[in-house]
Amino acid sequence: LSNFVCDPYSRELDSDPFPIYKRLRDEYPCYWSEPGDCWMLTRYADVTNAARNWEVFSSASGNMLDDIPERTGVTLGTTDPPRHDHMRSLIQFAFGRQQNEYLVEPTREIANKAIDKALEAGHLEFISDYSSPVTIGALSYLLGIPQDQSETLRAHVVQILQTDPETRKKTQASMDSFQWLKEYTGSLLAARREKPTDDLLTYILQAEIDGKKMQELEVQMTSLTLIMAGVESASSFMAMLALNLADHPDAQRRLVNDPQLMPQVMEESLRYNTSAQRFRRTASRDFELHGETIRAGDKVMNCYGAANRDERQFPDPDTYDIDRRPKQHLGMGTGKHVCIGAPFARMLVRTAMSAFHERIPEYHRVADQLDWIPSTTFRSPVALDLELP
Ligand code: HEM
Repeated sequence: LSNFVCDPYSRELDSDPFPIYKRLRDEYPCYWSEPGDCWMLTRYADVTNAARNWEVFSSASGNMLDDIPERTGVTLGTTDPPRHDHMRSLIQFAFGRQQNEYLVEPTREIANKAIDKALEAGHLEFISDYSSPVTIGALSYLLGIPQDQSETLRAHVVQILQTDPETRKKTQASMDSFQWLKEYTGSLLAARREKPTDDLLTYILQAEIDGKKMQELEVQMTSLTLIMAGVESASSFMAMLALNLADHPDAQRRLVNDPQLMPQVMEESLRYNTSAQRFRRTASRDFELHGETIRAGDKVMNCYGAANRDERQFPDPDTYDIDRRPKQHLGMGTGKHVCIGAPFARMLVRTAMSAFHERIPEYHRVADQLDWIPSTTFRSPVALDLELP
């Protein structure tokens, strides 16, 4: 009998999930994790099906393993159709009023300021000196948040998303940060209601289809979720992409010499090492899979990061190959809940990394060992020190 145990809260899964994912895919494709109190799905076909089959795999009681109860049932990521469909079309409509191209110049400017600062200092911790301030700067521009709030915002979002690995619960600090962000979002929305401006928050407030708008709490929680999802996943993804390039000097050199390769580098990085590794669903009814029975009410972890390394879908999956052009990777999910911020995220990462490579055409990582954030959902190093030649 095997004594294999996979604990979604373990530091091992944070730091190197890939060998564990492989074991799950090969030996336990429908795995009950006792310590996580959830099923874990890791094969491409099963993860894709669970992401698309919302009638069985519901998001309405949260999409993170340790979700914040106040968020469930009122945001895009934590509702099912028909409510989700309606909210999604309203947010999509709001996004559609702003052209992403309009954000390229301001993003470049924010990026270049961060590079100036790093070059002056002579060293660069990629996350706090670059990916995080540039992401929050661009996201603030999109949403209409004052630029001088970026440090405070980041500190609170990082706090909210962390789970105490010992207690497996949100800490008091994390709940306090959630309240802070909720009030802050509320005050931004109140200001837009008084005086509409040209930004996404105003467009979300105004969005209306067939005479129907979102309820006030939905507007507030969805705006808050856009901030949370945007800050964490885009900044971490940019860091993962830089890490992949630091670890693959050939790919780094080719991209620096030919910026046109950026889209394929981005897609392969989303496949190989997405910042959004695992999202949760809850079974609405019993479901048979690989000889196991998932019972109505059971939690199910849908491991996008594991599906992206399934050799049943991607040949030689553990090789980072920028010529792969992976079709239908799950780095941004699939189905009804596929990332709504994807076009913005792609614009942001493309613009920020091009600016970076123009000024810093070669970089290496300083530490062999990295420290990884404790999260059942996201994957990112805590810090990524880069050596600049
Ligand atoms: C490269 C960066 C990003 C990655 C890897 C990423 C990944 C994902 C994934 C995997 C999902 C699906 C979640 C699920 O299945 O439950 C998702 C949904 C979502 N993302 Fe992103 N995301 C990124 C950037 C962003 C940005 C910049 C924003 C906001 C501007 C954003 C906002 C959202 C929202 C609101 C949802 C929920 C959509 C729905 O349920 O209909 N994301 N994202």
